[in-house]
Amino acid sequence: MHLSGIYDYHSMEVHIMQKISIDSEKCVRCGICVNVCPVGIISPGEELMDIPYIPEEAAAFCNECGACISFCVKSCISSLFDTNYTSLDVLKNPDISGEQLGSYMVKRRSIRNYGNAAVSKEKIDLILDNVRYAPSGMNGQPVHWTIVHDTDVVKKLTSLTIDWMKEVLASEEPHPLKQFIPSLITAYESGIDPICRGAPHLAIAHAHKDNPMAYTDSIIALSWFELACPSYGLGACWAGFLNIAANSYQPIMDELDLPKGHAVQHAMMFGQPLYTIYKVPGRNPAKVSWK
Ligand SMILES: Cc1cc2nc3c(=O)[nH]c(=O)nc-3n(C[C@H](O)[C@H](O)[C@H](O)COP(=O)(O)O)c2cc1C
Ligand code: SF4
Ligand code: SF4
Repeated sequence: MHLSGIYDYHSMEVHIMQKISIDSEKCVRCGICVNVCPVGIISPGEELMDIPYIPEEAAAFCNECGACISFCVKSCISSLFDTNYTSLDVLKNPDISGEQLGSYMVKRRSIRNYGNAAVSKEKIDLILDNVRYAPSGMNGQPVHWTIVHDTDVVKKLTSLTIDWMKEVLASEEPHPLKQFIPSLITAYESGIDPICRGAPHLAIAHAHKDNPMAYTDSIIALSWFELACPSYGLGACWAGFLNIAANSYQPIMDELDLPKGHAVQHAMMFGQPLYTIYKVPGRNPAKVSWK
């Protein structure tokens, strides 16, 4: 398993296909594509001057997110899967117009590689001050935030999530994550953080567990948070594994120490992005029917 690999695709049965191609003339072997792939399927090759590649047995695990395409410093990765590239030029449009907002929105990417610098509490407050204007059902504004600013606590929450995964694995009960858990534990034990991706901070949206609007309102608020991050020089990513563990595992609930009756609605890692975005990957066309 290479540095960013978190899924052990060698042990899984797959169909063979290729997902990306890399222009070997332009590639400078920086290895960023290897580091940003969320499923860790891009191999750096054996030798220093090898061009990165996806081993055939791993290609089926590509989720077509286009992170490798976005972050390639030479824009020399092309997708071999069907894509619909945006026609927007993401570097144009000095003022906020529909076109500029569109450029900004489509340029958002999940960030899973972070610098070490802490984000100031003042900056986080500025973002949350905007996010409080996110819509909420009947303007109930039920969302509360726990910002995990202390990176040691982020690490502890990763460690507790791994503990929870070990319990899930040892249990006889079926669990939808069971097939992924062994690889995540192996990655963690080899020094990779597959849960919070080494992010310095977490934004956790929580609300009263009996509020029927709380989940939807929290997801909207977190989406606003993620979208606001790049304008403050930050990047974020949904912390799906942590979210599930935080709703299942008492030691995580104890660590978070939320107000009585509250439950985690969802969580997001964030910090200063390590890499720059150069391109916008493709997405499916909008599935629309007109009446
Ligand atoms: C509800 C939800 C949970 C997610 N959980 C994780 C996660 O635990 N780890 C991770 O690396 N990415 C996670 N993601 C990010 C998705 O993988 C990502 O949004 C998707 O691949 C598309 O890439 P993009 O966000 O760069 O456009 C999650 C996204 C959502 C919406
Ligand atoms: S990010 Fe681009 S330039 Fe760097 S190794 Fe990958 S393909 Fe080559
Ligand atoms: S498209 Fe996403 S999942 Fe597929 S190889 Fe690139 S970074 Fe990895």
